[in-house]
Amino acid sequence: MRVSKRLEAIASMITEPILYDVGCDHALLDIYCALNKNTTCIAIDINKNALSSAINNINKYKLNDQIKPVLNKGLDGIDDFTNSVVVIAGMGTSNILNIIKDKKIEHLIIQSNNELWRLRREIIKKGYIINKEQIVKEGKIYNVIISFIRGNKKYHIVDYMIGPIIRTKKLDINQEYIKQLIFVNQEIINRLPKHLFARKLKLSFYNYLLKRELV
Ligand SMILES: C[S@@+](CC[C@H](N)C(=O)[O-])C[C@H]1O[C@@H](n2cnc3c(N)ncnc32)[C@H](O)[C@@H]1O
Repeated sequence: MRVSKRLEAIASMITEPILYDVGCDHALLDIYCALNKNTTCIAIDINKNALSSAINNINKYKLNDQIKPVLNKGLDGIDDFTNSVVVIAGMGTSNILNIIKDKKIEHLIIQSNNELWRLRREIIKKGYIINKEQIVKEGKIYNVIISFIRGNKKYHIVDYMIGPIIRTKKLDINQEYIKQLIFVNQEIINRLPKHLFARKLKLSFYNYLLKRELV
C-alpha cells in the first residue's frame, strides 16, 4: 500500500502503539500505520462523507479489528491518551489549537497548512518541546511536519519562525524553505502601502534574521 511522501513522513515519526488520527479523511495514514507498524488506530473525522470514505478503505484492507472509525468533533469526549500519539494533519492552525485545547497529550504530530510561527509558540506555551521536524515538498508546497513532546525549553524568535530542528539541520530542502520564507516576506513588504512603514520595518527585520540562517 502506497501513500504520499507527506503521510509517509508523518508515519515515520509515530513511535507509540496507539494512534488518534484527528481529521483522518480517507484514513490512509491509519491503514499505512496498521499495515506497516502494527498500530492500533482511532480514525476521527467530523465529516460524514469523509468518514464513510475511511470506512470503505478500512473494509477494503480488512482492518476493522485494528482501526476504529469515529464520527467526532476533534477530541471532544476523549481524555485518555496513554501509550498514544495524536496526529492532526492537513488543517489550519486555529482549528488545530482548538482541537488540542487543554488535552493532556504526551506526543503530538502536527502538519498545519498555515501560521506555523503561531502554532509552535502556542503549543510550546502549553509545556511542550519540539523533538522532530521534517519538510516534505509536494509541487510548490512545503509541508512542515512537527513532533511535540512534553518538556520545557526556551526558544529563540528564529526557532518559532523557521523551526528549531529545521534551522539547525543544514539540509538543501531546509535552506530552500528558508529562502521561500524570505521571498514571501519580501513580497508582502513590496505590496504594503507606505503608511504601514512600521510593519514593513518589522518584516525587513525578520528577513534580516532569516538571511543569517542561510549558509
Ligand atoms: C484536508 S483533510 C486532511 C486529511 C488527512 N489528515 C491528511 O493529512 O491527508 C482535513 C480533514 O479534517 C477534517 N476535520 C476538520 N476539522 C475537524 C475537526 N474539528 N474534527 C475532526 N475532523 C475535522 C475534515 O473533515 C477533513 O476530512
